[in-house]
Amino acid sequence: MRLRLRLAPLLLLLLAAPLVAAFSSRARRRDFRALTDSQIAAVATLPPAEWDAVDTGHLAHLLVPRVSGSENNTLVQAYLSSVFTKLGWHEDKDNFKQQTPLGEIEFTNLIYTFDPDAPRKLVLSAHFDSKWFKEGGFIGATDSSAPCATLIDVAEALTPLLQKRKERLAAGTPLLSAGHDEEDAAQTTLQIIFFDGEEAFHEWTDTDSVYGSRHLAEKWDAEYLPPSHDFVRRRLNPRPTVLDTVDVLVLLDLLGAPRPSITSYYRDTDWMFLELAATDDKLRAAGLVESGLKPQWFSKYFGFQGGGIDDDHRPFLHKGVPILHLITSPFPAVWHRMSDNKDALDLAVLRRWNRIMRVWTAGYLGLAADDGAPPPGTETPRNNASPRSTTDELVRP
Ligand SMILES: *[C@@H]1O[C@H](CO)[C@@H](O)[C@H](O)[C@H]1NC(C)=O
Ligand SMILES: [Zn+2]
Repeated sequence: MRLRLRLAPLLLLLLAAPLVAAFSSRARRRDFRALTDSQIAAVATLPPAEWDAVDTGHLAHLLVPRVSGSENNTLVQAYLSSVFTKLGWHEDKDNFKQQTPLGEIEFTNLIYTFDPDAPRKLVLSAHFDSKWFKEGGFIGATDSSAPCATLIDVAEALTPLLQKRKERLAAGTPLLSAGHDEEDAAQTTLQIIFFDGEEAFHEWTDTDSVYGSRHLAEKWDAEYLPPSHDFVRRRLNPRPTVLDTVDVLVLLDLLGAPRPSITSYYRDTDWMFLELAATDDKLRAAGLVESGLKPQWFSKYFGFQGGGIDDDHRPFLHKGVPILHLITSPFPAVWHRMSDNKDALDLAVLRRWNRIMRVWTAGYLGLAADDGAPPPGTETPRNNASPRSTTDELVRP
């Protein structure tokens, strides 16, 4: 059964805790893989290298005005597409036209999936459009260039691990170690969504906001899974849709400025939030984040606090999808000001976000950087001195 609630068209929504708990039906608890300290360090420091400036690399392409329907918005789409095509991910474009206070605008959500055949998905998301101002020139570095760049970093770091696991599975040699079954873990793939049209053109209302996520949630809610899908074969009722394949929608927004303060808004994903806080703790304890930063970003001592901030997750939340909303509250001081540009970003903060999201995502998906490598101290047969060397084989009749 689906619950549909109407929320007041306020930017800040205070929901009673029992109401939020009603959405918990779909959140399926899943064990994070317990990565060792060295595995955490390995994932945190996988290539690509740490960013060395707040406005180079991917961020250089994202730190431009990119209002929905504008030429720059299309250029940013092309850039994102080129990055994920190069990584070999499956691309879906959700393209549509919609009336707005500025007339009809064309929007495009970009959806990238590592393994489109996997029955379930961990979804990481952020909006790639920037807010329209009459005078132009608004960049929205925290809103949400930096979150988009972090999602790219996670994809780039983890793609080789996902790829190696895919090859082991295809070869029929999945890893099965104590407490970890990678065939089972691979049932959930990584999907990254870049939403278009998050920003309101005029005042934020239910209809002048989150154009992209409203369209995609509607679309997936009406898209039934094929008969071959595992969920269909299990004869779930009501008939499952694409939305049912989403384990959780993680939404990043307004990040990259110093001193973020992140809260747990949904009871059913509180355990994931606490895992995020624990990941950050481990990175700090291991000296894998820079010193001088605010120690606690996650209000873990309070855990679930209810409430909620209206954003791209709203249409998914209303359709029962579990949500983890990573947004700083209060908002950054630069919020919706022209000063939300590269100067609002803090390099050490960005690096810490990248590492937290890499390690958390790897743990969720059950990936470790040394999977498939021989255990330390053992040598592969190939390296052993063997009487059957290559030369021997060549001279054999
Ligand atoms: C498009 O982006 C460029 C920077 O790449 C910028 O100079 C230009 O002003 C932007 N166009 C608009 C309409 O904002
Ligand atoms: Zn905004």
